[in-house]
Amino acid sequence: MIKEKILVIGASGQIGVELTLALRKIYGNANVVASDLREQNPLLEGTGPYVSLDVMNKEMLHVQVIRQNITQIYLLAAILSATGEKNPNLAWHLNMQGLLNVLDIAREEKLNKVYWPSSIAVFGPTSPKQNCPQQTIIEPITVYGISKYAGEFWCNYYNQRYGVDVRSLRYPGLISYKSAPGGGTTDYAIEIFHEAIENKKYECFLQEDTYLPMMYMPDAIKATIELMEAPAKNISIRTSYNISAMSFSPKEIAASIKKHIPEFSIHYKPDYRQKIANSWPQSIDDSVAANDWNWKSGYDLDKMVKDMLDNIKK
Ligand code: NAD
Ligand code: SER
Repeated sequence: MIKEKILVIGASGQIGVELTLALRKIYGNANVVASDLREQNPLLEGTGPYVSLDVMNKEMLHVQVIRQNITQIYLLAAILSATGEKNPNLAWHLNMQGLLNVLDIAREEKLNKVYWPSSIAVFGPTSPKQNCPQQTIIEPITVYGISKYAGEFWCNYYNQRYGVDVRSLRYPGLISYKSAPGGGTTDYAIEIFHEAIENKKYECFLQEDTYLPMMYMPDAIKATIELMEAPAKNISIRTSYNISAMSFSPKEIAASIKKHIPEFSIHYKPDYRQKIANSWPQSIDDSVAANDWNWKSGYDLDKMVKDMLDNIKK
């Protein structure tokens, strides 16, 4: 078996913390180097190596890759949809240049694999709303969506032209309790739990009937690891795979929470994020991922809600 040494960039973020811990279980603590621009997340402390790193500094990144004998990179540093609309230039710059820096270094150093997530945000108002297919009309309206769609084609290009084994998933909105979300349109589906437990009420920034594709973090980690461990011959999509788990509206998640906290109430005050949410599909067809590497989700709405409440209360 090839001995892998993995660098996770953006390890202190919502996905990074849980993915780093999961990778350390598989590859050994010393073989997964966490890195971020900000300080180490407390959940990672004492579990393995950490370096402070800016993905925009290509030279520094390159030095780390060589010094640490890195064979795989998981690139999670990005600016998400809602924050991206507040600073489009910064979002484009980080989301694009960060990816190109990693792809270039992967090519030069002949890394074994690269992981880079895309998003349902690549889809736009002209994409099908229900069971949005893998290949369809894609006209994103956010800078985040534009950067993710361009990034998908860069991944495909580096794979086809230089043979870089880069793999990608179009994550739906991710729900988790271990680390805070980083400024997405789907973040309401995390805030709602904390407010329900602490204050028994929540003011939602999306309308009650806004359906969006969502996924619980254990499913997202499972999908990422399964994709990365699949034989290269099974990977037919070199842009980014659709994956799906559940679709619900604020009204539906509130009703599911009320089963556990009967006094919980929600009211709605939509803001600029409503327009972003309205531009995305309500549900996603992930049959290509199911066929290629047997993707199957494990959590539905009620199962996720119970697990979130149990863990946040702890
Ligand atoms: P996050 O904002 O929680 O974490 C990103 C991390 O990157 C942060 O810890 C941040 O400090 C770090 N970072 C920012 N700039 C950096 C730089 N220049 N150099 C090094 N690190 C830097 O984001 P997340 O939710 O964990 O998302 C990770 C990836 O998954 C992103 O590409 C995002 O677009 C994608 N994604 C996330 C979701 C979701 O719901 N969370 C959904 C779809 C796609
Ligand atoms: N959860 C992410 C966002 O809302 C989707 O990529 O930005």
